[in-house]
Amino acid sequence: MSSNSKQLIAVIGASGQQGGAVVRALQAQGQFKVRALTRNPAKHRGLADEVVEADLDRAETLKAAFEGAHGVFLVTNFWEPGTDELKQATAAVRAAREAGVKHFVWSTLPDVETISGGKLHVPHFTGKAKIDRIVKEAGFAHHAFVIAPFFYQNLVGLLAPQKQSDGTLGWALPIDPSVRGIHMGDIRELGNIVAGAFARPDETGNGEYLPLVGDFLSFNEIVDTLNRQGHEFSFKQVPTEVFAASFPGGAEIAATFAWFQAHTYLGSDSSYQIGLANKIAGRQPTKFSTWARVNFPVHASA
Ligand SMILES: NC(=O)c1ccc[n+]([C@@H]2O[C@H](COP(=O)([O-])OP(=O)(O)OC[C@H]3O[C@@H](n4cnc5c(N)ncnc54)[C@H](OP(=O)(O)O)[C@@H]3O)[C@@H](O)[C@H]2O)c1
Repeated sequence: MSSNSKQLIAVIGASGQQGGAVVRALQAQGQFKVRALTRNPAKHRGLADEVVEADLDRAETLKAAFEGAHGVFLVTNFWEPGTDELKQATAAVRAAREAGVKHFVWSTLPDVETISGGKLHVPHFTGKAKIDRIVKEAGFAHHAFVIAPFFYQNLVGLLAPQKQSDGTLGWALPIDPSVRGIHMGDIRELGNIVAGAFARPDETGNGEYLPLVGDFLSFNEIVDTLNRQGHEFSFKQVPTEVFAASFPGGAEIAATFAWFQAHTYLGSDSSYQIGLANKIAGRQPTKFSTWARVNFPVHASA
């Protein structure tokens, strides 16, 4: 099929980790034309077949952004200062409906509030879950929910090992390291699931949940995996209240670890959904040990 006759997928967050993965997977798959959306097209020229401006905080930009699109991938960035995920997603869903979009894929997370019976407050999870209903009720011909895991990349980024007071390099976090609760994955592989979902609407387009899970580990298993590869990382469990008070935003991260410990990252047995996601991705996601061997070079801990 020539590029002009291909259906078009518009990707929010195309310059970021999730949307970037979606752009690359769609390009590799070759079935669709890809429109990368960004607040700053001049900075991201050449990202996809088309690069078009979209600002979720300026609803008026979304009409042109979604014009002529068959499908839309939406991710919102909780961590961007000033972001109201509900407002942004509502504007995106509305604009997509008005533009005649047929297939909508939303990057969601579990409803911590409901599953924990109101005990845990993790707005970057629950806030996304609350958007699911809006997507469901919008009346798209097809819609699906993709669930990003705990990025392996966190462990070399924001959650990279730190020098501890005993001189070791490692982690001091508010979680029991023996509890296996973290559904993890290489976020670069999220795109395979999303591209598969767009390509196979009959299998996933009726509101299926599609989590990317490369591994399911405890912190002890994470540390053991790395130390078997030559690192010498330590782990120390710290009290939730101490961690929560140790930096701005600490309470949200502390509650997130409490969530992993009490309910696991995905919050319930998701083996069916994980199997479906892997099937439509057409491959098994990369295990943590394999990812770490390449991306966690041993000299980093020396
Ligand atoms: N780290 C984890 O383990 C983890 C796990 C699950 C889910 N998440 C979620 O992942 C989300 C972040 O995704 P990411 O890691 O892919 O982000 P990222 O790499 O930090 O990139 C952020 C993206 O969001 C776009 N963006 C931000 N504000 C926008 C706006 N107003 N209008 C349009 N686009 C906007 C940016 O586009 P431009 O700058 O080009 O406009 C950029 O592409 C967060 O909501 C977080 O809760 C993270």
